[in-house]
Amino acid sequence: MSRIVIWASGEGSNAENLIHYSRTLPNVEIVGIVTNRSQAPVVERARRLQVPCYHIDSNNDQQQIALMKELRAEWAFLAGYMKLLSPEVLHYFRGPFMYQGQDILYRVFNIHPSLLPKFKGANALRRSFDSQDDEVGVTVHFVDEGMDTGPIFLQQSVRVTSEMRSDFFVFKETIHKLEYECYPKALKWVVTEYSKQK
Ligand code: GRF
Repeated sequence: MSRIVIWASGEGSNAENLIHYSRTLPNVEIVGIVTNRSQAPVVERARRLQVPCYHIDSNNDQQQIALMKELRAEWAFLAGYMKLLSPEVLHYFRGPFMYQGQDILYRVFNIHPSLLPKFKGANALRRSFDSQDDEVGVTVHFVDEGMDTGPIFLQQSVRVTSEMRSDFFVFKETIHKLEYECYPKALKWVVTEYSKQK
C-alpha cells in the first residue's frame, strides 16, 4: 500500500482530482491533506471527500516531520502548495530511486502550470498567458531543494488558440484540464512502476 500525503495551500482542485483517481487504484491511499492555510478552500474539499486535513506551520519543520511520521507518509504530492519544503522535510522523503535512468533524490512530486524551465515560481499561469507563446502547458516534476527545478517526470503542451489568447479564463481552464490529466499519471507510476523498485 502506497501512503500519499497531498500538500496544498489554495483551491485544491488538483488534490480533489488525485483523491478521486486514487480511489480507482488498488494499493494506494491518500492518508491526508496538509495545508498551511486554515481558511483555504482545500480544507472544505477535504472534509467533503472525507480525507483528514492537517493545518501545519510552514516554518515548523519538526512539526511537519512529526506529522509525516505519524501518518507513515511515503510520498508527498504538492498541489498548489505555495512554500518550498525545507531540506529537513525533503530528507524525510529521501530515496534515492531511479526514473528513466536518472537518480531521483526525494519521493516528492510537484505540478506546475507551465512548460518548465519557463515561468518558474509564483504567478506562472498569468506569466505564461502574458507571454503570447504559441505553445504552453504543464509540468509534473520531482522536487529538489530549488524552486521548480527538480527532474521532470512529464510535460504536456497545447497550442494556444485565439480564444485562449484573448481570455485568461479560457486559458486557465485549458491548463487546469491538462493538469487533471497529467498529475494522476504520477500517482499511477508510484503504484505500478515505483513499487517494483522497492
Ligand atoms: C495549479 O495550477 C498548480 O499547477 C499550481 O497551483 C495550482 C493549484 O490549483 N502549482 P488547485 O489548488 O489544485 O486548484
